Formats: sequence, structure tokens, C-alpha cells
Amino acid sequence: MNNFFLLLFFQTDPVDALYRQNEVTPVDYLKFKHHSYSEMLMKSVNEECPNITTIYSLGRSSKGKEILAMIISSNPTEHEIGEPELRFTAGLHGNEAVGREMILLLMQYLCKEYKDRNPRAQRLVEGIRIHLVPSLNPDGQEEAFEAVSGSELSSWTTGHFTNEGFDIFQNFPDLNSILWDAEDKGMVPKLTPNHHVPIPENFESNSSIAVETRAIISWMKSYPFVLGANFQGGERIVAYPYDKEDDRGRSAGYHYAEPEDEPRVIADESLFRWLAVSYASTHLSMTNNHHRSCHGDTAGGGIGIINRAKWKPVTGSMNDFSYLHTNCFELSIFLGCDKFPHQSELAYEWEKNREAMLTFMEQVHRGIRGIVKDQQGNPIANATISIEGINHDVTTAPTGDYWRLLNPGEYRVTARAEGFSPVTKLCVVGYESGATACSFNLAKSNWDRIKQVRLCHCEQGL
Ligand SMILES: *[C@@H]1O[C@H](CO)[C@@H](O)[C@H](O)[C@H]1NC(C)=O
Ligand SMILES: *[C@@H]1O[C@H](CO)[C@@H](O)[C@H](O)[C@H]1NC(C)=O
Ligand SMILES: *[C@@H]1O[C@H](CO)[C@@H](O)[C@H](O)[C@H]1NC(C)=O
Repeated sequence: MNNFFLLLFFQTDPVDALYRQNEVTPVDYLKFKHHSYSEMLMKSVNEECPNITTIYSLGRSSKGKEILAMIISSNPTEHEIGEPELRFTAGLHGNEAVGREMILLLMQYLCKEYKDRNPRAQRLVEGIRIHLVPSLNPDGQEEAFEAVSGSELSSWTTGHFTNEGFDIFQNFPDLNSILWDAEDKGMVPKLTPNHHVPIPENFESNSSIAVETRAIISWMKSYPFVLGANFQGGERIVAYPYDKEDDRGRSAGYHYAEPEDEPRVIADESLFRWLAVSYASTHLSMTNNHHRSCHGDTAGGGIGIINRAKWKPVTGSMNDFSYLHTNCFELSIFLGCDKFPHQSELAYEWEKNREAMLTFMEQVHRGIRGIVKDQQGNPIANATISIEGINHDVTTAPTGDYWRLLNPGEYRVTARAEGFSPVTKLCVVGYESGATACSFNLAKSNWDRIKQVRLCHCEQGL
């Protein structure tokens, strides 16, 4: 807690940064309206900014609609070595419209501002590979869109679920229990890794996992994502993981957490708190809600962030899955009480969220990054990067590069790879923006050399 407030204190104020870096004139080129699935405008942004955008599909919904994503980056079709990848998603619940519209507006904004040489937009587009997915549940989006009469949604849950009735956000394999059981037995990290927890074997045949969830999972695994956020609605707060409450031994079920419950703390809690604050404090009204959430309780205590497990625990969330199975740190951003506001409110919603979205994206450059290579200079894929004192490792991408989000401080960092001797370094993360370079060259381990020598002898002996 103390640590956290100190951080707040020493950070350059993000709102202040807005006025220093972002002299943007009012955004008269933006169109503020709700979009149905077929009207989502992505093609026109792609035509407007062909050299920094590309559109792809990450899979299909159960009714066969493509789940469309746009990449915005200076070299959008390739992973550039050293460049972090980030994702914003919305519409896990098809009836939560604000996130979708904010993502569509962000596409138009980045395209236009990049072309107009806004330095901040240029830095974002050139320094990050940004994936934007406005609608993870297109069937739900269509259902909600058709049910809207005069812009008011008739029923609270229309379009919330997939066509087959799944709530995608909490439809991921529960890896928490697996890791926590191993932790309780003292096996982590010596015997069981503290990262990339394997998906249970029965996953493939499990009919309780939606096709959309499966598409999202294989997508999450196929890019070296570092940071992500899913936009939701019905609340006005940023919720960080763990999302699951450690209720093993108690009967599970959807409920508000009891005040006396002590949730299991995620290894990167102070970092997650910072990420959550970076959004909430630069959003125009998230920290200004008179200490009341949408339901009149005091969730978040007015600072606009909360640990999900302490608030409304869920099992199998996208955030927990992302942290436990991939390198990506993901959290949920709830944009407001009204899930489907009148479209005349979208311009104000954009004003409230624009700075927060930009500031959040910039946090991908916080911490350390580097490349792990062997002595011949070849990149080593899947090497692990461990931070002393934080029980959660990350791994290198197929191109040997890695990113490790960290708050300012001094860290003992160890790189390990099978067949190589580990190397430990001290790396310092300062308060200025930009990740600290922290690369490694690993030498073949002695054991590996002995094995090679033996092999040679045997071959000679034959
Ligand atoms: C994209 O095209 C614009 C001109 O429309 C040009 O100014 C810019 O440098 C190009 N960017 C890249 C990454 O090629
Ligand atoms: C199938 O997946 C669901 C959702 O993740 C989970 O609750 C259930 O336990 C799984 N079933 C089996 C047999 O693993
Ligand atoms: C990465 O390395 C671990 C051992 O450190 C291994 O279990 C895992 O299968 C490897 N994954 C890939 C994709 O190579």
C-alpha cells in the first residue's frame, strides 16, 4: 500500500503530460454513432492509413461471423524485434457498447493524428504493435444492436452472452487452482514453473468452452503480447487480477466477496495497481465518483481501481488466464454504468477516455526489455526471465526478445534456457519513460558440453 502511494507521488503526473505532449485540436473528423457489426468502419480506416494498418480475423463466432482485429503500427504485418505488442479488446459481452465505440474511435484517431504528425501518436504507432478488437462477441453485438429501440436496450442481458449462451469473459480454463495447489505444496517455482501453466488435457473435448473463447485463446498465444485491456460496461472502475477468489474448500458460485476474505495476491500486484491507476487517474470521471460505484456501494473507495477477487470474484477469467498462461498482463476496464448509452453521449465518452487510453498504451514501455542470444549471436526462443522477489517469470518470443513490465526499482534479473548456463544481471528501472535495455548472452552449460563430448567419443568408438 505504502509502496503504491509512493509511486503515485513520484510519477510524472499523466494528466500533466497530456498538456505537455498532446496539443490536439478538437476532433471534428470523428463520427460519434453506434455501429452494428457490419458497419464497423475498419475498412475505411485501413483505406485512409494503408501503410500503418492491417485487418485480420482471429476466428469466427458460432454463427460464423469473423472476429475482426486491426493492427496499427509502423510495420503492421510483422513483429519487429524489440517492439512490444499490445491489445485492446471490447464486446466480450455484446451489449456493452461503449468499449467498442471507444476502440473504433481510437483507430480513427491514431490514423488521423499519425498522418498529421502529432508527435505522441507517432511515438505510439512507431513504438508499439497495437491490436484493436472492437467486438469479441459479434453474435451478441448483433443481438443487442437489434434489440435497441430508440437507443435504449430493452433487456439488461440481451447480447451479453454468445449465441450458445456463454459468458466469454469467464469461460477460460481455470489455471489458478492448478498453480495455487502447487504453491501450497511448496513446488513453485523449483518443481513447477510460476508461469505458462499448462491447459488441462480435457480442454479440447470440453463442450463448455465457447468457439469464441477457443479463438481468443489461440490468438492470445500467437502474438508476443505484453499488455492488454478488455473494455466492459455496467461499472465505472478498473479491475485488476487475480479475478478468482481462493475459495477452494468452500462452495463456489457467483457472489460478492466477503470483507474478511483474504484473496491470494498476484505476484505482480504493485505493477497491476499502477496499470490500473494509469487509466483510472487519467480518465475524466473514474476517480471522481463520490466514492460510489454504479450500484451505490463504495467499491474502489473513490480511487477508481479495485482487485476483482476482493470485489466480485469470477473463475476462469480472461485476465487470470492471460497472466497464468501467457506473458501478457491483462486487466478489465469498466467504462460506465450505462452499458448502451444514447449515441449523443459518445462524444463525451470519447473525451473522458481518450487520454486514459493513450496513457495506458504508453505503460507498455515501463520496465525492462531485451534480447537473449547464444554466443554465436542467435536468438534463443522460450528462454525464461526471472526477477528476484517476484514469483512470476516471462519468456522470450520466437525472435529471442522479451519485455518485463516492472515499476521503478533495482532488479536482479536472471535469464535461463535449456542447455545454457544461467546469467544474472542487475537492471535498473528509472522514473523516466522508456524500458531499460537488459539483454543477455548465454553460453552453453558445462553439462551440455560434456554430453556433446561424450557423444563425439561414442561416435568415434563405433
Ligand atoms: C505512411 O504514409 C505517409 C504518407 O501518407 C508517410 O508520411 C509515412 O511516413 C508512411 N509511414 C510509413 C511507416 O511508411
Ligand atoms: C470445461 O470447462 C468449463 C469452463 O472452463 C469448466 O468449468 C469445466 O470444469 C470443464 N470440464 C471439464 C470436464 O474439465
Ligand atoms: C519452453 O520451455 C519449457 C521448459 O523451460 C518447455 O517445457 C516448453 O515446452 C517450451 N515451450 C515451447 C513452446 O518451446
